[in-house]
Amino acid sequence: SEISTPARPVLHFTPEKNWINDPNGMFFYQGEYHLFYQYNPYGEKWGHMSWGHAVSKDLISWEHLPVALEEEDKVMIFSGSAVVDYQNTSGFGTGNEPPIVAIYTAYDAKSGFQSQSIAYSNDKGRTFKKYNQNPVIDLKKADFRDPKVFWYQADKKWIMTVSLSQEKKVQFYSSKDLKKWDLMSEFGPAGVTAGIWECPDLFQLDYNNESVWVLGVNLGTHSIAGGSGLQYFLGDFDGKAFKVNPSLTKEPLNFIEYGKDFYAAVVWEGTPDQTKERKWLGWMNNWEYADKVPYYGWRGSMSVPRTLRLQKQDGYFYLKQEPVKEIDNYKKKSVEKNAIGIQDANALFSGFIKSDSLSFSTSFVISPSEIHDFLKFNIKGKGSSVINFTYDKAANELVLVRAKSSKNVDSKQYPTIQRVKLDKSDREFEVRIIVDKYSMEVFTHDGKYVFTNLFFAPSNDINVSFEASKKDQKLVFKSIGLYTYL
Ligand code: FRU
Repeated sequence: SEISTPARPVLHFTPEKNWINDPNGMFFYQGEYHLFYQYNPYGEKWGHMSWGHAVSKDLISWEHLPVALEEEDKVMIFSGSAVVDYQNTSGFGTGNEPPIVAIYTAYDAKSGFQSQSIAYSNDKGRTFKKYNQNPVIDLKKADFRDPKVFWYQADKKWIMTVSLSQEKKVQFYSSKDLKKWDLMSEFGPAGVTAGIWECPDLFQLDYNNESVWVLGVNLGTHSIAGGSGLQYFLGDFDGKAFKVNPSLTKEPLNFIEYGKDFYAAVVWEGTPDQTKERKWLGWMNNWEYADKVPYYGWRGSMSVPRTLRLQKQDGYFYLKQEPVKEIDNYKKKSVEKNAIGIQDANALFSGFIKSDSLSFSTSFVISPSEIHDFLKFNIKGKGSSVINFTYDKAANELVLVRAKSSKNVDSKQYPTIQRVKLDKSDREFEVRIIVDKYSMEVFTHDGKYVFTNLFFAPSNDINVSFEASKKDQKLVFKSIGLYTYL
């Protein structure tokens, strides 16, 4: 059932073959980013969940490694994390290399229970052995999963954030050795509680001299664009419990972004300057239709890797995301123009972008005061819009519209309209759009607003252009950049 496609995305991680979902076990060690991921080694649909593995020096070029943790005896390896145990607290260390310890959910298909287990590596994460006294936390529950572990230096202990998915709770455990865990506290239900809670994450971020704790909670369903997405809470953590501080954010509910295809994101552990910025990516898909997107020899990919920062505006904090800088090293061709009109910009696009190699990015500045009606960035296939992004002046909104798929993603939830209301006084802002074969990621306002969406266009007759109403035909871009990659 493979649908032919010209080539792989160039800026996005894809597995060599088969099904993937969540990113797992992300840690950084000796210049290498490790990415594990939910993987079915045997097929193109979810099943036999195991941890696939890849490493990268720059988050863009990935080296595929053998499956790191495999399903065994009908016990699947669900999502989780990995840490470098520098002080050998676990005692798993042998030589001079610190052990790498993976903490994952073991899903026993026979009992239906989910428990937390560990495995360790003595070769920089190349190969893992499962601990012989697993599980390390067992509540005999069916929905208890996705442990994320980090080292809490103030108390010299490990902390695990893990979810009770159906109860819409996050639990916090502590440990001195990664083997024996004590429950410290619980958080939730809170925020969006209609959908199940999965893949939680807790970390600290600074903005100048202020410091805030972030609790990320992935929502299997009922997120802002429908289906899967990520809500976050900002507050305080004292080493034992997380407390939301509602005065930190403008809105009571906070979502990391507005698109449909960014899920199960958690941050890398051990990257430089961790409280200043975190690195992360998400599974670029949505449980509403994840098994219905075309199979290209693989099914599923990760979002573009991003830098996550804390930002403050008018007294309120929020998280912002921008594509990692390393992407720029892969630019192959660039065009940059100042003071260029819409028609000329479109001529640039058509000369620059080949529909059989649809991997490019563009950056341009929108000046609301110079627009009468709207400015639309449109990707069309065979004449009709597949996906488009619009600044709507009258509504003062950013609008992302994705049409029914021409490759028949057979799901009523696939077509979508995503809207974000801008502040009244919005000044000019930059829009950055990354298109990579079958995804479009839009970043505006320095990463405050992000829309991540898959799209499936016919592989020929693709047109990329700006559109505007009659009144706005004379619109001139202050600057525009257009880039292809690899
Ligand atoms: C999230 C999730 C996790 C689980 C994994 C199973 O997408 O449902 O909660 O561990 O996928 O593949």
